[in-house]
Amino acid sequence: MPKPPVSPGTSFGGTLFAPISASLRPAILCLSALVATAGASFADETSDLVARGRYLATAADCAACHTAPHGGTPFAGGYAIDTPLGKIFSTNITPSKEDGIGTYSEEDFSRAVREGVAKDGSHLYPAMPYTAYAKITDDDMKALYAYFMHEVKPDDHKPQKTELPFPFSIRTSMAVWNLLFLDKTRFQPNPAKSAEWNRGAYLADALEHCATCHTPRNAFMAEDASQALAGGSVGSWYAPNITSDKVAGIGGWSDDQLIQYFKTGNVPGKAQAAGPMAEAVENSLQHLSDDDLKAIVTYLKDVPAIGSAETTSRADFGKASVEVEALLRGLPGQSPEENGYHIFSGSCAACHQVEGQGNDHYPSLFNNTATGEDRPDNLVSTILYGLHRKVGDHVAFMPAFGADASYTDRLSDKDIADVSNYVLENYGNPSVKVAPADVARIRDGGEKPLIVKLAPLAAPAAIVAAVIVLAVIVWLLSRRRRSRPALG
Ligand code: HEC
Ligand code: HEC
Ligand code: HEC
Repeated sequence: MPKPPVSPGTSFGGTLFAPISASLRPAILCLSALVATAGASFADETSDLVARGRYLATAADCAACHTAPHGGTPFAGGYAIDTPLGKIFSTNITPSKEDGIGTYSEEDFSRAVREGVAKDGSHLYPAMPYTAYAKITDDDMKALYAYFMHEVKPDDHKPQKTELPFPFSIRTSMAVWNLLFLDKTRFQPNPAKSAEWNRGAYLADALEHCATCHTPRNAFMAEDASQALAGGSVGSWYAPNITSDKVAGIGGWSDDQLIQYFKTGNVPGKAQAAGPMAEAVENSLQHLSDDDLKAIVTYLKDVPAIGSAETTSRADFGKASVEVEALLRGLPGQSPEENGYHIFSGSCAACHQVEGQGNDHYPSLFNNTATGEDRPDNLVSTILYGLHRKVGDHVAFMPAFGADASYTDRLSDKDIADVSNYVLENYGNPSVKVAPADVARIRDGGEKPLIVKLAPLAAPAAIVAAVIVLAVIVWLLSRRRRSRPALG
């Protein structure tokens, strides 16, 4: 059971002083009344701290990774994070003494969350976003600890253990990685910016850890700080450029559109949140206060713009003027184009409508960032995995057509490539082409970083040596990078 907030006032007044002689009673009553008031305010303070910790845990989205899918006990772990290295299972962070963090002191807890080192001294993999949490302030860590210890229900159950292949199974190698890539500096407010900007920067960088998905990673899977928020792969999905660039980023979105996206995950004629972003909206962003969402937008709109070769923003690709009938006329039977058209008619048009224009319930496929991006990852992933996002009482749902689909709905890699090309050609960015091999790659969890591609090629020991040598080189380079001024 969670320890109830300590309340010394009640037990003092009631039991401890009971046998004391009547003559002393008035004085003691007086004293115990004083203690009771102090106790009450102590309890209030604890419950304030717990409430603050609850909000912070929501903003930091701890539940998303530490709760097993399909109704797992909150914070009891067992959620598998698909990384290019293999599946990493989250741990039980309920205050269970046996299986969770019940024996963690506040210091142990801080060290795990901000430095990636568990109580037993073992190193955590950065699938736990401690590189972002390193910026969390001491006060906020205190509140988070109070929440986990006093309010989260202990669950005595050990989730599945993480077993990565050699050499990644050697957790101490993370010590080298941390030396290179973990910046332990707490959040430093920028005095040249407003309080709202700083609140937004703290929320986005430290708690919400937007950069863990939206910043591209280098060959060692560390964030490339020179490309902050310029877009990065998250397994099968792609977290787009959300810098202030008007074309490549979100500079063209109004403040209200961004807030609506964070609150609901859906801005008609612009974007819907699927995959990992649907989870961020569902578990975290929709629950933030309006002031905090405004603060994030203020900060985001001021993140240095990083452009791309694209000249049209991904939300601006409209419907092609070509008539479908004309397009199909004269095509040889069963051409990929024709196959794409048939799959679209059979599997997509019922919801997204024959012209891809959508309706009140289903989004249009033009003026849609998933079809206008200069890469097809989110279009293909949405077809493979579908979409599920619960906001308030409303559920946005699109069925999966990939591996999880029912037999009748299942589409092959070629079918998905054909329907994607049909959608891109008519409603999205027509310069993007999808081959069946691209679908297979996305099905398999996306592009693998260099460090993983090397693994099967050489003897594991040689890899470790190579990794260390390369790491030292990167470290030397990163010292130059670090000496540049920070973001903003
Ligand atoms: C993006 C996913 C993700 C998020 C978000 C996340 N964690 Fe974790 N966390 C993990 C994974 C995965 C592990 C296990 C890593 C490993 O085994 O190396 C872990 C491990 C931990 C541990 C070590 C537990 C132990 O068994 O020793 C603690 C403590 C922890 N997380 C607390 C938190 C808190 C508090 C939050 C929110 C502030 C949080 N985590 C958010 C993925 C996440
Ligand atoms: C767990 C990974 C993850 C985290 C954390 C995350 N995002 Fe995302 N984000 C994504 C992915 C993936 C998409 C693409 C979703 C789609 O199109 O269906 C996305 C889409 C977006 C979009 C819409 C872009 C577009 O053009 O459609 C915005 C805006 C955005 N994220 C902002 C944020 C902000 C701000 C944060 C932090 C407060 C954040 N995201 C945290 C993964 C993430
Ligand atoms: C049963 C209805 C239904 C069917 C069938 C369907 N969709 Fe969807 N689709 C949806 C819904 C609902 C959404 C999300 C709306 C929201 O987020 O509010 C969506 C979203 C999308 C998105 C935007 C995803 C993102 O990440 O931004 C794309 C692209 C898409 N669908 C393409 C397709 C294609 C291609 C097919 C056919 C292979 C298809 N859909 C079939 C209902 C459907």
